[in-house]
Amino acid sequence: MNHDIKDRELADDGKRRIDWADRFMPVLRLIRQRFEQERPLEGVRLSACLHVTTETANLARVLKAGGAEVLLCASNPLSTQDDVAASLVVHDSIPIFAIKGEDTETYYQHIDEAVNFQPMVTMDDGADLVSRLHSEEANPSYVENVLAGTEETTTGVIRLKSMAAEGVLRYPIIAVNDAQTKHFFDNRYGTGQSTLDGIIRATNLLIAGTTVAVVGYGWCGRGFADRARGLGANVIVTEVDPLNALEAVMDGFRVLPMIQAAAEADLVVTLTGNIHVLRREHFETMKDGAIICNSGHFNVEINIPDLKDLSTEVRTTRELVEEYSLKDGRKLYLLGEGRLINLVAAEGHPASVMDMSFANQALSAEYVVKNHEQMDNCVYDVPEELDASIAKLKLQALGVAIDQLTEEQQTYLNSWTMGT
Ligand code: NAI
Repeated sequence: MNHDIKDRELADDGKRRIDWADRFMPVLRLIRQRFEQERPLEGVRLSACLHVTTETANLARVLKAGGAEVLLCASNPLSTQDDVAASLVVHDSIPIFAIKGEDTETYYQHIDEAVNFQPMVTMDDGADLVSRLHSEEANPSYVENVLAGTEETTTGVIRLKSMAAEGVLRYPIIAVNDAQTKHFFDNRYGTGQSTLDGIIRATNLLIAGTTVAVVGYGWCGRGFADRARGLGANVIVTEVDPLNALEAVMDGFRVLPMIQAAAEADLVVTLTGNIHVLRREHFETMKDGAIICNSGHFNVEINIPDLKDLSTEVRTTRELVEEYSLKDGRKLYLLGEGRLINLVAAEGHPASVMDMSFANQALSAEYVVKNHEQMDNCVYDVPEELDASIAKLKLQALGVAIDQLTEEQQTYLNSWTMGT
């Protein structure tokens, strides 16, 4: 079996950590048990381009249990957990192409392995695999043979919707990110907590009393802002969307333009999915010693070339912390090369929240294999009944019971929807 990982010797460490994550993924476990019986993905070649973490390992095992031939490559050069990659190769015979810290050339060589696997289904996180399959680099017949795909994150969904709008998307995709049991929980609680975890691991910063500027008050920003406040930070929010800005105000945060927030912040965290939200004019006003990081999908939110241009020297002061000495004597600290800090410096989202995200992935893969013939080349939502079934299973697993509508209540509500 072809693969490219850092070190097979790490496999047993990886296995122990994957099993630990599995304890917190009861919904995925139930799906695995059903998949073992029913084998809904029998004979399906599936290329996944995801962060290679313990949670992803459990997803890969579920897909394999369902009968799929799975190949996994990294969706970010810095997020791979090398012990997990080793365990999947050694203990599960799943071909993995991912090494933490791989350079850009290797990153794309690894994606090319996923392309050349000639997948029937793709599973992406950020749409790099889909883009590569559609590019001139790939054998054109490969994209023709893909039945359908799934996409994990906001940025990927935006890229794919724009491909669909231009009429260049060649197969249907399910936007797993847009499932309620995904972004309500994963983006908000998962990114919220793990972004703080990454910042603290990288810096050992005391959050209490720190002024934190949160750039973007979408799903991830809301989760992060709330958790930073919980640890005692003075949180400022910056936004471009009036509704989300208003929500931040009503949630009790100060909302300021970026230029003012930059001047006050000890820590700036970008979570927008947008480009250069932090740039020269902001660096010019920032306080000496301010820390900057990103938890959005791509490392484009912070304009690093601008920062370099303003600096006389860049040095690594501690692992994942680069000190930029500015011409005027101030120093700014960039974490994790501006890549998503929760995966670079910490372990990404907790398994309990990835349980639901990856349950959506597994069920969506099953759905597209069954239904691809009725689907067009566009981006679809996760079917509502799948989404609802995951919420039900998660509640069950948590031991939380809820009430049922009485017959009278059901009739009453129906009468409104029927307009009587
Ligand atoms: P979202 O669309 O819910 O929120 C983004 C927010 O940023 C919006 O409110 C938008 O108005 C705001 N925004 C855009 N440009 C801005 C600017 N120049 N200044 C201030 N605000 C601006 O998206 P979501 O789900 O919160 O995702 C954000 C990013 O995080 C995406 O790139 C997504 O792929 C990524 N993501 C990262 C995860 C991680 O593990 N670190 C997990 C999930 C998503």
